[in-house]
Amino acid sequence: MAKHMMIGMHFGNGYGSQPGAWRMPGVLPTSYTSVDEMVRQAQAAERGKFQFLFVPDFPAMMGDVETESPMITIDPLMVLAAVGRETRRIGLVATGSTTFNEPYSLARQFKALDIMSGGRAGWNVVPTSDQTAAANFGRPVLPREQRYERLHETVQIVQALWGSWGKDAWIHDQASGRFADASKIRPINLQGRHVGSAGPLPLPPSAQGQPVIFQAGGGDQGLGVAGRYASGVIGSTYTIDDARAQRMALREAARHFGRNPDEVKFFPGLITTIAPTRREALDRRIALSGRMFPQRISYLGQMLGLRLDASQLDEPLSPEQLAAARPSDGDPRSKRALAIGRQGWPLRDILAHGVIDYHPVIAGPAVEAADHMQDWFEAGAADGFWISPDVYSDGIDAFVDGVVPILQDRGLFHCEYAGSTLRDHLDAPDQYGVNVQL
Ligand SMILES: Cc1cc2nc3c(=O)[nH]c(=O)nc-3n(C[C@H](O)[C@H](O)[C@H](O)COP(=O)(O)O)c2cc1C
Repeated sequence: MAKHMMIGMHFGNGYGSQPGAWRMPGVLPTSYTSVDEMVRQAQAAERGKFQFLFVPDFPAMMGDVETESPMITIDPLMVLAAVGRETRRIGLVATGSTTFNEPYSLARQFKALDIMSGGRAGWNVVPTSDQTAAANFGRPVLPREQRYERLHETVQIVQALWGSWGKDAWIHDQASGRFADASKIRPINLQGRHVGSAGPLPLPPSAQGQPVIFQAGGGDQGLGVAGRYASGVIGSTYTIDDARAQRMALREAARHFGRNPDEVKFFPGLITTIAPTRREALDRRIALSGRMFPQRISYLGQMLGLRLDASQLDEPLSPEQLAAARPSDGDPRSKRALAIGRQGWPLRDILAHGVIDYHPVIAGPAVEAADHMQDWFEAGAADGFWISPDVYSDGIDAFVDGVVPILQDRGLFHCEYAGSTLRDHLDAPDQYGVNVQL
């Protein structure tokens, strides 16, 4: 294991990872379109020496905008281009769909971000399958097999385009009048079943050569993508044992494709509500999402094998209910829900612990987050974490001022950036051009 863990941060809609974040006191309600606010948030993450920001994306409007903010950024690459100008070190990873973009456009935009940011760009490669997104491009969704075929062709063409200028092709010598050595700039002439490009790309290497590849999520096909190309993988997992198994599978996949498994880092998610006491953290989560609890209570019942309804929100589980409770095998979060129920919390507080969320939740003092991260890191279940603060406006600072110093004191997290590129931060090897052939 490496000595230090790495930290990436979910960089979303300007508000935070919880749907109610846009309405919290102190939050600028127009953060969704405020680049100034997003820059401030990125600078807070950089103050904490985080290795990267990670911007998820779906090219469609999701959710009920009558009451909820969108969960996506106005535009990942445009926002990161602005953020890159106001930060110096932090990595900038954006999601880009291989289903709805052509390789030439992806190659150009991500490489431009990489050049503009001094070598800090990463591309989270996703084979979007969503019908609503497909409708925005006037196309049907391709079957899964073909979406992955298109993904592989796209990644390889993009990487070939990134390497189409020899590393020393750009001369820019005013005295001799030689701008570039054209003999070192080559077309790529790649044509797959789904996509193709002649190249070259009109862009020289960036400070890190070319952007770093990320992948999010599992599945056999996803593992193949990650094992072949990725330097960073964002994972979704609730238990330390499952996280360790996922990390081992990822390392095995990298080995299978002839890579050193240390080249790919696994980042399980962690949602944080950091407050001085557990009570304050729970109250904050109740303020954020408590109005959804009455609908969630029957699902909590399913997780515990009990019939529960909203009338019991302020009561703990009774001794009879505790005796009858059986955590559901179908939901890996169930055991934690029961363990919290056994501590005697009322159902509202059980839900406020975040037992039904997309990633493990820490709602409590900073040391609890640090302990969780240390346990997972030292068990070989993570190379680092993908942190989703509940509300960005103060939740990033709470993490940076509370959790980061504990991790640093324990020798688990770096105190300063050693290098300046994303490749440096991830300890990813040099790569220029394509690493596998079509
Ligand atoms: C933590 C996490 C974040 C993800 N972020 C995105 C995203 O921003 N955009 C997207 O289209 N898919 C995203 N995905 C979905 C995956 O990239 C992948 O498409 C999904 O797991 C479905 O894979 P499949 O098509 O092989 O079933 C994410 C998955 C996980 C686990």
